[in-house]
Amino acid sequence: MRSLLLIGGTSDIGTAIARRFAREGRPVVLAARDVGEAEAAAADLRHRFGVPARAVALDVRDLEAGLELVHGLEPCPEIAVAAVGWLPEQAAVREDPEGVRRVVEVNFTAPALLLAALGRRMAEEGVRGHLVALGSVAGDRGRASNWWYGAAKAGLHAAMEGLRQELLDAGVRVLTVRPGFVRTKMTAHLALPPFLTSTPEDIARLVHRAVTKGRSGPLYPFPWRLVSLLVRLLPASLARRI
Ligand SMILES: NC(=O)c1ccc[n+]([C@@H]2O[C@H](COP(=O)([O-])OP(=O)(O)OC[C@H]3O[C@@H](n4cnc5c(N)ncnc54)[C@H](OP(=O)(O)O)[C@@H]3O)[C@@H](O)[C@H]2O)c1
Repeated sequence: MRSLLLIGGTSDIGTAIARRFAREGRPVVLAARDVGEAEAAAADLRHRFGVPARAVALDVRDLEAGLELVHGLEPCPEIAVAAVGWLPEQAAVREDPEGVRRVVEVNFTAPALLLAALGRRMAEEGVRGHLVALGSVAGDRGRASNWWYGAAKAGLHAAMEGLRQELLDAGVRVLTVRPGFVRTKMTAHLALPPFLTSTPEDIARLVHRAVTKGRSGPLYPFPWRLVSLLVRLLPASLARRI
């Protein structure tokens, strides 16, 4: 069985997805900037599921290193999940060039570029694989509280939609997960509404089912497809007040 590559190898949602696939015997490669933490997660996968699992160092802001990694993996992975993300305080990055560069690179440029490179490799090598990008409903509409993050995620959604069309004939599927609220270290400081909040394991189950069924397109946990639709349809005057 070909491997699953997790870009953002220490992400709470990403590692839950990796565990879900490792359970059925799939080898895993965890690419993370904290290679020690990723290696501990890889050891856990080896121990629990008896699968080959390893960690590799990658800071996704080093785009050349990212490309070298995805071109160097042998054999080409069958599933690639980009779970990198950075949700800063909007006020802290609003007009800070370095903060803006980082929020766009981590949430948009790097995942889009690395998934595109893997998609091309899959197509060229005849691997009918799956690309999974972690997007966000924050990308559905600009909001005063997080519009740099939301704009970067909107860019990722558009890139994945284009990639999905480009790779359709090669049989490579592209999923864009828009998970709503998920209780992880990214949101640990936020008060999230329990009835709208998923666990990383909920999202992992959703992704596993969609990949297994060969689905492509946006993917939402219940009831976020409806929430997202309403958010997009709201007139601007009303959206401002909610
Ligand atoms: N949690 C939610 O409610 C929620 C909602 C919608 C979308 N999402 C998206 O879901 C994805 C996973 O998020 P999560 O909730 O699992 O949060 P998380 O546990 O904080 O995961 C984010 C991951 O991104 C990694 N990362 C950040 N900058 C990086 C860089 N320069 N190079 C390499 N890795 C980097 C982090 O690594 P470090 O540990 O080294 O920082 C971490 O592993 C993200 O794309 C996020 O935007 C989350």
